[in-house]
Amino acid sequence: MRVISVPAFGSPDVLRVEERPVPELSPSEVLVEVRAAGVNLMDSYMRRGLVEGVVPPVSLGADGAGVVIAVGADSTARIGDRVAWQFVLGSYADMVAVPRERLVPIPDDVTFEAAAGGLMQGLTAQHLSHDAVPVPGGTVALVHSAASGVGRMLTQLITARGARVIATVSRPHKARSAAEAGAWKVLVRDETADLGAAIRELTDGEGVDFAFDGTGRSLFDVSISSLRHKGVFVHYGRAGGAIPPLDLWEQPDGVHLVHVRGDAPHESTHQWRQRASQVMRWISDGTLDVLIDRTYPLGDAAQAHRDLESQETVGKLLLIP
Ligand SMILES: NC(=O)c1ccc[n+]([C@@H]2O[C@H](COP(=O)([O-])OP(=O)(O)OC[C@H]3O[C@@H](n4cnc5c(N)ncnc54)[C@H](OP(=O)(O)O)[C@@H]3O)[C@@H](O)[C@H]2O)c1
Repeated sequence: MRVISVPAFGSPDVLRVEERPVPELSPSEVLVEVRAAGVNLMDSYMRRGLVEGVVPPVSLGADGAGVVIAVGADSTARIGDRVAWQFVLGSYADMVAVPRERLVPIPDDVTFEAAAGGLMQGLTAQHLSHDAVPVPGGTVALVHSAASGVGRMLTQLITARGARVIATVSRPHKARSAAEAGAWKVLVRDETADLGAAIRELTDGEGVDFAFDGTGRSLFDVSISSLRHKGVFVHYGRAGGAIPPLDLWEQPDGVHLVHVRGDAPHESTHQWRQRASQVMRWISDGTLDVLIDRTYPLGDAAQAHRDLESQETVGKLLLIP
């Protein structure tokens, strides 16, 4: 079977298609035939050597969807089950061994593409907007990069909670995706001379109640200065680089800063599965619309990484083995 590996850190050109034996299962694992694997910024960070503790050679890919083709002695899954998973390294592959605690069933009316495209970012958006920082109806939230990934899912979930979203996207061709996700207003950053002023104007000078920011350094100043008094800044990623060390004294009076490093890292397997099942139900009932931008054959993983890093894509990229 084929696996995409990173023999040494570097550009997308380092990615290799390797032939490997089918993995042997531990009693608690199942073997899944991968039908769709998600391509995430996290994979690109891993390829570039930016993830602490990861050393080459690395088998790439962390999430996906597929069909169970063999089960370990202790697994309750059955051959033929349609399943999705998250945080299983080596998911860019024809087959992957998945620990049973990382599996969630896919409802019949959800495609493999939607399950693979929606689970990880849906779980993150769910955790951010419902658990880490519950967003009440009637409030206004700023969400950056709302045309794809976590930003688009946040826009959908926050809107469903009865709050209004001011979305930002980097380029004009991304605006439609954010609007279709339910954003109240969409600001195109490339076309907005003073983003902070535009956000203030939309909130009658008050500022927003929440700012969800996965860009890190690039938009930190805008996000923090757009908050109303007692507003909450939520930092969940650094797609645009790490925020330099902060002098809290220099920050606006009365704002709250929340850092969410992982996707609910302290929850039990049971809690994770409940949340994952919720995300699947949301995909099934349309609360979450999973936008797939492009799909690629497994062997074109390098091109998928180039496209993701171009910042031009709108929606999720998937590898189809
Ligand atoms: N805390 C967690 O649990 C968690 C979980 C998943 C993801 N994340 C983080 O959240 C951020 C977004 O991840 P995602 O899964 O939503 O990614 P995605 O689906 O690939 O979306 C990426 C979006 O980020 C924006 N972006 C800003 N700077 C970028 C850059 N230098 N290269 C590529 N895209 C850039 C782009 O939107 P614009 O062009 O409109 O800005 C792009 O559409 C990442 O930093 C990721 O590590 C955190």
